[in-house]
Amino acid sequence: MSATAELKSSGLEGMIAGKTAICAVNQTSLIYRGYEIADLAENATFEEVAFLLLVGHKPSESELKAFSKELASQRAIPGAVIDYLRTAGPWLKSGSAVPMDVLRTAVSMLGNMDPNSQAVSPEADLEKAKTLTAQIPTIIGHMQNVIDGREIVKPDESLSHAANLLYMITGEKPSDEHARVIDVSLILYAEHDYNASTFSSRVIAATLSDIHGAVTGAIAALKGPLHGGANEAAMEMLREIRSDIGKDNDPKKIQDWMHQAFADKRKLMGFGHRVYKNGDHRAGILHKLGRQLAEKATDDSLAWFELGEEVQKIMETEKNIYPNVDFPCGLTYFTMGIPVPQYTPIFVAARITGWAAHIIEQHANNRLIRPIAEYVGPELKKWNDG
Ligand code: SDX
Repeated sequence: MSATAELKSSGLEGMIAGKTAICAVNQTSLIYRGYEIADLAENATFEEVAFLLLVGHKPSESELKAFSKELASQRAIPGAVIDYLRTAGPWLKSGSAVPMDVLRTAVSMLGNMDPNSQAVSPEADLEKAKTLTAQIPTIIGHMQNVIDGREIVKPDESLSHAANLLYMITGEKPSDEHARVIDVSLILYAEHDYNASTFSSRVIAATLSDIHGAVTGAIAALKGPLHGGANEAAMEMLREIRSDIGKDNDPKKIQDWMHQAFADKRKLMGFGHRVYKNGDHRAGILHKLGRQLAEKATDDSLAWFELGEEVQKIMETEKNIYPNVDFPCGLTYFTMGIPVPQYTPIFVAARITGWAAHIIEQHANNRLIRPIAEYVGPELKKWNDG
């Protein structure tokens, strides 16, 4: 095998690492337990998709009512975690910690306080998955309240999962349209088969470690800008372009900026994908919804979308590289006024359902995941040979 091919294979590219009944990701479709992503984005709510992923089937009306009520009733987090979020305030302000780090620690702390923390049965996993799904938006909201120096906004059980997430971040009840766009973004982000963070969670679960530990590891993996961190990095890249070329979105200046990035061999954030080579099925869905919001906005949100569309056009025509879901997500969340450092934590608020579904599936029929490596180090030698 050539050196380049070996390098690519070191990312396990194209290698089947196991079986799952949860999700299928391929060039022609993205399917969650038999349902195609565009169908779910159009016709389902996040609560319905969370139930589908965690329990395994489309919920009946009564199942959905009970599930939604159960999630809403479990949104509050322990005082000790709120105290930690307040302690983390200065670290978040100084930049020594970013929201993804603080969210990771808070989830780990929740495990310390769960009486059932050590149990790894699928039943115990499901109960803890529902609690984490309910509590992660609260951690995000309270963390943002601390960063903003405002009173903690308590969860509102009367709001949907998506609306409550926005409410807790901003302190204002969102419009139905904003709540729906966030709801769809959570559906799009919920699950994606053996992506890096999900695979990390399965490797941890396969040692028979607990769900809080597996999710803590998955959050660490998702943070990286090559993975979930790309939604923040994509918006920061657009801000960099805007600061370099000004607000007029001059196509020639944008093209010059992109050509310099190509010359510098920069990875353009929010573009490309290990599996999708002709585009990410989720990107167009979110772009359309986000652009509709931007067209109605009174600020320059539409100009940001038009800048993004120019960047996308150059990537597609000159590099044949397409946007992944993180590119339209950055623009959409920016249009909604969500602070950039909370974009990837919101990804966690969705992906907790996919991670937990995989952890449950792994624990239900487990075998330790342990591949081998090809040794390319020094030849055998004696320690006392000098
Ligand atoms: C997510 O796996 C999942 O399912 C993840 C995810 C999920 O839902 O869980 O979909 C979420 O993580 C989406 C991806 C978010 N990451 C980014 O947007 C970061 C920028 N993207 C790249 O770093 C890259 O596209 C990856 C990491 C996403 C995928 O990279 P691969 O498969 O390892 O491909 P590669 O880096 O080997 O690139 C192949 C070629 C290279 O050119 P050559 O060196 O062969 O000339 O394409 C180029 C790359 O330079 N390329 C890019 C590019 N992505 C690939 N060039 C510029 N900008 C990019 N973004």
